[in-house]
Amino acid sequence: MKGILIAGVFAAFAITVIDSLSCLQCSPSTENCSTNKTDCGNEKFKSCVESSVSSTLGKSPYSYENKFCSEDKCISSTSAVVSFTVRVSDDQEFNFSSQCCEGEACPGNNEGSGEEGDGGTSRADTQIQCPSCYSSNTTTACKEEIRQCSQGERCVHIIADHVNGTVHNKVELKGCSNIDEATCDILNPGNVTVGEFTFQTVSCTNEITTTTPATVTTTPSTSTSIKASFISSVFGSLLLLKLLF
Ligand SMILES: *[C@@H]1O[C@H](CO)[C@@H](O)[C@H](O)[C@H]1NC(C)=O
Ligand SMILES: *[C@@H]1O[C@H](CO)[C@@H](O)[C@H](O)[C@H]1NC(C)=O
Ligand SMILES: *[C@@H]1O[C@H](CO)[C@@H](O)[C@H](O)[C@H]1NC(C)=O
Ligand SMILES: *[C@@H]1O[C@H](CO)[C@@H](O)[C@H](O)[C@H]1NC(C)=O
Ligand SMILES: *[C@@H]1O[C@H](CO)[C@@H](O)[C@H](O)[C@H]1NC(C)=O
Ligand SMILES: *[C@@H]1O[C@H](CO)[C@@H](O)[C@H](O)[C@H]1NC(C)=O
Repeated sequence: MKGILIAGVFAAFAITVIDSLSCLQCSPSTENCSTNKTDCGNEKFKSCVESSVSSTLGKSPYSYENKFCSEDKCISSTSAVVSFTVRVSDDQEFNFSSQCCEGEACPGNNEGSGEEGDGGTSRADTQIQCPSCYSSNTTTACKEEIRQCSQGERCVHIIADHVNGTVHNKVELKGCSNIDEATCDILNPGNVTVGEFTFQTVSCTNEITTTTPATVTTTPSTSTSIKASFISSVFGSLLLLKLLF
């Protein structure tokens, strides 16, 4: 009898250990992000997602962080990071970062550690120029201007939808971005969901929209290190919602 009881207790314990997913959880509405993982509380959750957005688009700067248990599997691999910046103009840019970890909490990174390696060193301009614009919720047309890109950047056109409960907020962005090719490939098929964002359209090009002569340097030989440190150091995701205000 006692043996059975103990076996039962062990079995229950084993099941709990196997089945429960714990994630860092952090609601954007609270200032506090927990530093401890919390049980997701339901087997339907498959992954932990950590997203952050910081943006100077729209009327006021905005930043946002969100960590949650997700019912979706990660895109493309069991541990996917999507991270990039889009520069629309000198004073308008959008940072998006999202990490997804399937079946386990994301490895602890600490925002404080490792600077972005961006410290004031301005990157050289390249021959690449991109149409640039920003519009929210498609209420206004995306009014293009031409932007000069820096090393390691390419042109992007992104339309993304941020879902918050039943509210959808859509943002369209064109500009120079340090997004890497692998990320473009992952998002390119359209309607790819990353955390609470759906990327309806993501197209990346190295096009040169220019009137200058044809010294066509293709992809600048480049900034792998910038990209790598950028990707490894950031987490999080995109937020479109608040940008719209
Ligand atoms: C955040 O957490 C700290 C420590 O638990 C607490 O003192 C503080 O009041 C919390 N702040 C908010 C806005 O909840
Ligand atoms: C986080 O976990 C540690 C160790 O288990 C515990 O001492 C601490 O009180 C926890 N913090 C919060 C905010 O729950
Ligand atoms: C976006 O990220 C870059 C690189 O980390 C940083 O220099 C810039 O200040 C960020 N922009 C915003 C709006 O937070
Ligand atoms: C989502 O909507 C709720 C209720 O309207 C709001 O309080 C919250 O701030 C929104 N989330 C974000 C990330 O803006
Ligand atoms: C954006 O459009 C959607 C659908 O038309 C609407 O529900 C939402 O409130 C709009 N958001 C803003 C910030 O205007
Ligand atoms: C993505 O979803 C939108 C809205 O549901 C739809 O209009 C569009 O055709 C879809 N795009 C692709 C590539 O599936």
